[in-house]
Amino acid sequence: MDWGLANRLSRIIRPETGRTVMLAVDHGYFLGPTSGLENARKTITPLLPYADSLMLTRGLLRTSVDPQKAPPIVLRVSGGSSILKELSNEDVTTSIEEAVRLNVAAVTCSIFVGGEYEKQSLMNLSRLVNEATPRGIAVLGVTAVGKEMVRDARYLSLACRIAAELGAHVVKTYFCPDFEKVIESCPVPIVTAGGKKLPEKEALELAHNSIQHGAIGVDMGRNIFQSDSPVGMIRAVRAIVHEKSTVDKAYDLYQSVLHTTANARRNVL
Ligand code: R5P
Repeated sequence: MDWGLANRLSRIIRPETGRTVMLAVDHGYFLGPTSGLENARKTITPLLPYADSLMLTRGLLRTSVDPQKAPPIVLRVSGGSSILKELSNEDVTTSIEEAVRLNVAAVTCSIFVGGEYEKQSLMNLSRLVNEATPRGIAVLGVTAVGKEMVRDARYLSLACRIAAELGAHVVKTYFCPDFEKVIESCPVPIVTAGGKKLPEKEALELAHNSIQHGAIGVDMGRNIFQSDSPVGMIRAVRAIVHEKSTVDKAYDLYQSVLHTTANARRNVL
């Protein structure tokens, strides 16, 4: 593998564990001011020390993250549709020159396999691979799921394999029953999304299951930044991903951070 690409990948996937905790805060590119990210800088800043990488758009990166404090960046470079319209109708929004200027470790876009604009989204990913790889920048392929698509192993294996065949270096998908089948048929590493906000213990179980069944990490958003203790949650997720922690131990960690923060707030008032 090209040295620059290997170096950038190793900034995202920790060489000590071969795993990664990616923090996803790119939701606004089609959802607008997502709950928890209304003031993105305020939400993101305390989480930065615990994120192996940060996934977001150039707009949020420029306005809401200090360059001196940023972890490796996974830049969302697709968009063009909103929650009010057909989501699969995406294009590449950000040039590779800008990705280089922003010193990102990886670029990312979604593919909508089975979606109305399937081909367009697959060509977006292909274009990213064509433009990013010669510059040593990695590509994360995100398997987006439309309302009508079932998140089962058959569908997700199809979508992940297509992303890998088109050249993605890492694929992000959803955990599902028989997840091993998705892992076995995908020749590149897989990370899992968190999805809609769950009770904290269930979100930690999801992270734990993902790792146990072969994912190299998580790319989690709402289950971290919508938690009543975002720092507690990201630290608990890290314990599962990097320290082989059980769900119970990780949950205890989350609760202890939650209570410490609440006590500190009470003492200030
Ligand atoms: C969706 O297309 C975005 O890429 C999100 O970053 C992704 O869904 C992960 O965030 P969450 O854990 O909130 O699902």
